[in-house]
Amino acid sequence: MTGPFGSLRDYLKAVDELGQVLHVDKVDQDAFEATGFMYALIDKVGWGEAPIVSFNQVKTGGRWMEGPVIGNPWGRWQYEPMAFGVNAQGTNQRELYRSTLAKLETLVDEEGQWPAVEPTEISPEDAPCKEVTLLDDAIDLTQFPFLKTNPADGGPYINTGNVILEDPKYGRNAGTYRCQIKGPRKIGVNPERNQHGWTFLMDMKDRGEPFARAAVVLGADPIVFAMSSSKTTRLGQDELKVAGGFLGRPVEVVKCETSDLRVPANVEMVIEGEIPFDFEPEGPFGEMYGYIGEMKSENFFMNVTAVTHRKNPIFINNFTGIHRGFLTSPLEMTSNLNYRKKFPSVLSVHFPLQTPGYCFIQIKKMRPGDAIEIGSEISKTLKIAKIAIVVDEDVDVHNFTEVMHAVGSRWQPQQATQIIAEAGAMGGDPSSPTRGSGSRIVIDATRKQPDEGGPEVYAKMNRECLLAEAPDIFTHIDDKFGDLINGWKS
Ligand SMILES: Cc1cc2nc3c(=O)[nH]c(=O)nc-3n(C[C@H](O)[C@H](O)[C@H](O)COP(=O)(O)O)c2cc1C
Repeated sequence: MTGPFGSLRDYLKAVDELGQVLHVDKVDQDAFEATGFMYALIDKVGWGEAPIVSFNQVKTGGRWMEGPVIGNPWGRWQYEPMAFGVNAQGTNQRELYRSTLAKLETLVDEEGQWPAVEPTEISPEDAPCKEVTLLDDAIDLTQFPFLKTNPADGGPYINTGNVILEDPKYGRNAGTYRCQIKGPRKIGVNPERNQHGWTFLMDMKDRGEPFARAAVVLGADPIVFAMSSSKTTRLGQDELKVAGGFLGRPVEVVKCETSDLRVPANVEMVIEGEIPFDFEPEGPFGEMYGYIGEMKSENFFMNVTAVTHRKNPIFINNFTGIHRGFLTSPLEMTSNLNYRKKFPSVLSVHFPLQTPGYCFIQIKKMRPGDAIEIGSEISKTLKIAKIAIVVDEDVDVHNFTEVMHAVGSRWQPQQATQIIAEAGAMGGDPSSPTRGSGSRIVIDATRKQPDEGGPEVYAKMNRECLLAEAPDIFTHIDDKFGDLINGWKS
């Protein structure tokens, strides 16, 4: 089965058919077995290689519950071309990822706009997410396997929910914000300050509205989830429309039971409710940097008015800080396009989420000082880019080792570094003196030209000399020894 997939189920089935879903019968999450399992698996297999894990039954809150609860749903780069329906061959994960970036780039129009297709409404009878409807006292969120991932977390969390809001000024927004389970019919809702969801809610509060109607969508298809989880769209752009553009067909939506909100219909569960503008404490929560974030004294919460779900819903738990959280190619493509527009020297920008805080920027240097100027602008405008490393066009930004090699061999700390003393910071960065602010560093790891203080003649790389002497060496080796090399198992 190939993508784009209209549902999470179809996507998981396709990955399972590749033999890349590890099925685990039972885990006792009251003893943190699922969390320990994910750490141990990724320690052993590696961040970009580990399979999807499906925990069939999970004990949580003292009760055994039916899953499956899925971990690491977006781990491998090869899932990007699968999910976006890109016909990409081969096994090299980096190449598969790049082929997705290349395909997505062709979808953008001259003004840099993503394709958009208006969602289409279907009737509740046809909506998979409405196979079961729970209202009033029948609602009890504690009966579902939402996990407390870390012993230090404030409680169990729904941490892959796409929060849908509508506003007359901005239209619709879908944003993935963690939701702490606070009771059978009450959850926290955590858009960070200045997220689009935060702007929607604060505007409603300022207009004097008593509450916001919201719906939390669980188990959306990979594209809707990626759109909801990344800053691919601007404030006022509907993520569901852009998702339809990528899908090549409209996202099917259905009306909520207790509001006029329209939500994706082909999902596992929808939690509807009202967000009043009184605030409550929330957290702590183990964040993407892999550290426990501080407890928030004031946060949004939602009183749940309805839950609808498929008969045997699939749950996704994000083991935050352990595995990748979403498909990143639309976001990466968006930042490539934005920065290329601003700086013609920029070729690509990559932020490796397994080591949050870094950003690798590949440029074709056009004039002295290009690298620091570009690195500094990107570092100041992209919060995740606390350490911005600028490399030449022969360095693969998707290859961590190559980037580190360039730093070791092309960077002179005294001459090619800029420190930005004060800038915004990611909320989860534990090194920030105060949450949300910090300093940054730009490392120019490009070959320095003589007018940048570099050597008169830059030494050639061994590999460069090999290719100059034997341009076809790697094709030749692949033809002659490919089976030996590819077949080797450590
Ligand atoms: C699994 C996961 C959990 C996330 N949790 C939060 C969160 O709790 N709060 C937040 O502001 N952003 C969170 N994000 C990031 C946002 O989803 C992302 O910035 C998105 O662009 C927000 O939507 P918006 O741009 O419409 O505000 C999370 C992302 C993922 C993948």
